[in-house]
Amino acid sequence: MTSFETLRWNGEADGRLVLIDQTRLPTELVEIELDTVEGVWEAIRSLRVRGAPAIGIAAAYGVCLGLQTVAASDEAARLARLDEVADYLATSRPTAVNLFWALERMRERAAELRGEATGDDLAEALLAEARAIHEEDRQMCAEIGRLGAALLPDDCGVLTHCNAGALATGGNGTALAVFYAAHDSGKRLRVYCDETRPLLQGARLSAWELQQRGLNVTLICDSAAAQLMREGRVQAIVTGADRIAANGDVANKIGTYQVALAAAAHEIPFYVAAPSSTFDLSLASGEAIPIEQRDAAEITAGFGPATAPEGIDVYNPAFDVTPARLIRAIVCERGIIEPVTAERIREALG
Ligand code: MRU
Repeated sequence: MTSFETLRWNGEADGRLVLIDQTRLPTELVEIELDTVEGVWEAIRSLRVRGAPAIGIAAAYGVCLGLQTVAASDEAARLARLDEVADYLATSRPTAVNLFWALERMRERAAELRGEATGDDLAEALLAEARAIHEEDRQMCAEIGRLGAALLPDDCGVLTHCNAGALATGGNGTALAVFYAAHDSGKRLRVYCDETRPLLQGARLSAWELQQRGLNVTLICDSAAAQLMREGRVQAIVTGADRIAANGDVANKIGTYQVALAAAAHEIPFYVAAPSSTFDLSLASGEAIPIEQRDAAEITAGFGPATAPEGIDVYNPAFDVTPARLIRAIVCERGIIEPVTAERIREALG
């Protein structure tokens, strides 16, 4: 169990969203309380809450906050407001499909109640839906951990990129859930965390939460990953995902693709751990996944003084796409998808 809660709803339908401000980690563990949909949008956009499943959960609670201002209005006004807040939250970040998936679930729940719900009924039903999204994610993480742990040998080195842990989900994480479950079952792991430039989710978040949980964790800079593989220190790689296309191509944090290429060169299995809410079967391949472009300052002055000359051109894609052929298996709560093909994905997701 983790000793922190990444996000939680405080109160009933008129309550607030409380979340850990992840921009302050690892030096400060600080919670912020959000009472407006604008606050949730900003928290997602600025990565106070981040990681595909956690973004979806936060957005679902954000819809609840957005509806609080029209609780006493007529149904037409409430449904118009629902569309407005869902459309608005959908503009916060483009790549993680869990965001759009969660917003769609909230819209569908409201549509089911059309013509039969008071403002209070709608608010309660939407909060129940957001809580269900949160709880289901917790359960999916547990199952992913259980299934993925079986793939890891005892006494091995594993490597991960970015943060696909408790801080990124409603539960124990996806990639890190695999490590936690293996560790809890008595397997001896040495976990290597890529720093994950430019925003250091590996150093600030994965290294922090793995250390909190008592795992044997070593931080490396991103450019050391291939060398560790060459030295024989890494027997498996597990990362999370932000969106998985119908053919198994995976969008995840920038740098994931080059880790997968290095893994292939060293014949080390590269696994992706992700819940069913991260699949986007409407996209035939990873080519169609929208890649978020972020501010140049994240690279030129990420955490303080400038580390690049003023006025330099910068290209800062936040995600990349790893082709399915480089992925040994996808660990999903519905089962282990191996080989990673469109057919096996369709079978697993039903
Ligand atoms: O930009 P971030 O920090 O939201 O990126 C997060 C990742 O890339 C994670 O690996 C992914 O969302 C999976 S989280 C279970």
